[in-house]
Amino acid sequence: MAAEERGRWASRTAFVFAAIGSAAGLGNAWRFPYMAYANGGGAFLIPYFFALITAGIPLLILEYGIGQRLQRGAPGALRLVKRPFEFIGWWALMVGFTIVAYYVVVMGWIVLYMGYSLSLAWAGREADFFQQQVLQVSEQPRALEGICWPIFLGLVVSWVLIYLCIYKGVRGVSKVVMITVPLPVVLLAVLAVRGLTLPGAVEGLNYYLEPDFSRLLDPQVWLAAYGQIFFTLSLGFGIMIAYASYEDPRSDVNNNAFLTAFSNCGISFLAGFAVFSVLGFMAQTQGLPIEKVVASGPSLAFVTYPKGIALLPGGTVVQALFGLIFFLMLFTLGIDSAFSIVEAINVGVEDKWKLTRTHLVILVCSLGFLGGILFTTRAGLYWLDIVDHYATHFGLTVIGLLECLLIGWVYGAERLRQYLNEVSDISVGLWWSVCVQILTPAVLFVILTLQLRKEFQEPYGDYPAWALISGASLVVLAPLIGWLLASARGKEA
Ligand code: PHE
Repeated sequence: MAAEERGRWASRTAFVFAAIGSAAGLGNAWRFPYMAYANGGGAFLIPYFFALITAGIPLLILEYGIGQRLQRGAPGALRLVKRPFEFIGWWALMVGFTIVAYYVVVMGWIVLYMGYSLSLAWAGREADFFQQQVLQVSEQPRALEGICWPIFLGLVVSWVLIYLCIYKGVRGVSKVVMITVPLPVVLLAVLAVRGLTLPGAVEGLNYYLEPDFSRLLDPQVWLAAYGQIFFTLSLGFGIMIAYASYEDPRSDVNNNAFLTAFSNCGISFLAGFAVFSVLGFMAQTQGLPIEKVVASGPSLAFVTYPKGIALLPGGTVVQALFGLIFFLMLFTLGIDSAFSIVEAINVGVEDKWKLTRTHLVILVCSLGFLGGILFTTRAGLYWLDIVDHYATHFGLTVIGLLECLLIGWVYGAERLRQYLNEVSDISVGLWWSVCVQILTPAVLFVILTLQLRKEFQEPYGDYPAWALISGASLVVLAPLIGWLLASARGKEA
């Protein structure tokens, strides 16, 4: 496709906002604060920034660099590097697809909770309400026991909104991100300010940030930091490659990558204040030690935080408003991460086959929706947990590793670095090539090996083996489907 025909971002801000929107997702709100707390508090920031500089930013620059230089999404770009590698790009998109299938189900829960906030429907029985009433969780993964229709409806609403955000292509997304990126940040700031003025907030923050430097000697803490960085920057899913392919080939890369990375980490840090101030308040109000109230992931968002909301002073109207702000914040934080995955797939398909934009977006959204139905059943929570485990622990690491090796050694890190420095405001030194060729792949390899070993030593969760094997088979299926798609004839055959 000639460069002129390719969609373009409306402005540099639009591109950087879209990238920040992809990076800043549910993980920033419900994963980072807990990771910091559990891995040395304020001291965690040291490995975190180290990981950011030595792996997160180099890989982000790499993804931006090849997307912008080669003007293709992940499959097309890797095909241009060397034809047989196209399948790795599709593999990345397949992993992204599994993630978006359940990510949007969680957004469906959030939609429902926006409604429940109005009446504080959970008050007094938060855990029960979430598990029994909303999710109606069954006994075990085999017991699907039908679809939970409210969740199904939430899923439909979320997919329709995603469709509306992206159907116009990159120009439309340029407009949407002007709202979906700043809005959750403003809402987080509101939550943080309210949280910080609650009694007990300071104790909460102490737990969040009090540095425990002795933890820096624990390799697990460093691995956690690297894992969090890869996940939070949405690396290894072909998203940043696709987004950068809509940039003019002469645009800045390096500075944009620093901007994206630091803004994203700032949002995580801010979220920690919103979360831990309320946790501190809860601990004090209930006379419990903070260890008894901290949580992460879905239980933080759908059980602990709602419980905190129900304890807030000021009456039910204030509580309802706080709840609404919280869930609206989560929804707007998540939606641009969700549609970034869809866009990455769209770009991959568009590069290879001729399809009208509308047909393409309807097709991908419908497939994502269909894939999500499994997670709306009464066993949905189990499957969500299992699929999330394999997709984020293996998909991301394997693909990140392959990307580094391919670009670092086959395409040539120095060759790309020369291009990067030609177009960028600030230059990256030799350290970048060293990171891409050696350091980042080495770290990813270590993470992967340790993760694999752990998987065999103590299988994840207390799920039956067949369920874990089905979940893990996605990891095997993704490259196979990738291979099939790569072998199919496209317009550039
Ligand atoms: N970066 C997102 C977060 O922190 C997670 C994500 C990864 C979203 C990959 C989309 C794609 O929540």
